[in-house]
Amino acid sequence: MSKKFKIRHDRDGCIGCTSCANICPRFWQMNEQDGLADLQDAKRLTSGDTELTISEEDFEDNMEAAESCPVNVIHLVDIGSGNELI
Ligand code: F3S
Repeated sequence: MSKKFKIRHDRDGCIGCTSCANICPRFWQMNEQDGLADLQDAKRLTSGDTELTISEEDFEDNMEAAESCPVNVIHLVDIGSGNELI
């Protein structure tokens, strides 16, 4: 069975650097209204963070996007173990 991961975006902390959207445009797009990144199809939590579950095949691209974020507001959690990987 393939692993599942959760992406969590602390959108309030995003500074709109566009790096995630350049690296992984299938998942990340810049919002024309406020200039911050949107995680596509993510659900918004009451904390203001947005969250999306992804499969193993989409992990690498999103990890690269997360690693590129200068303010570290993209987090990836291995749902199986509960470990936050970044
Ligand atoms: Fe924002 Fe970080 Fe993407 S600052 S635009 S979430 S790389």
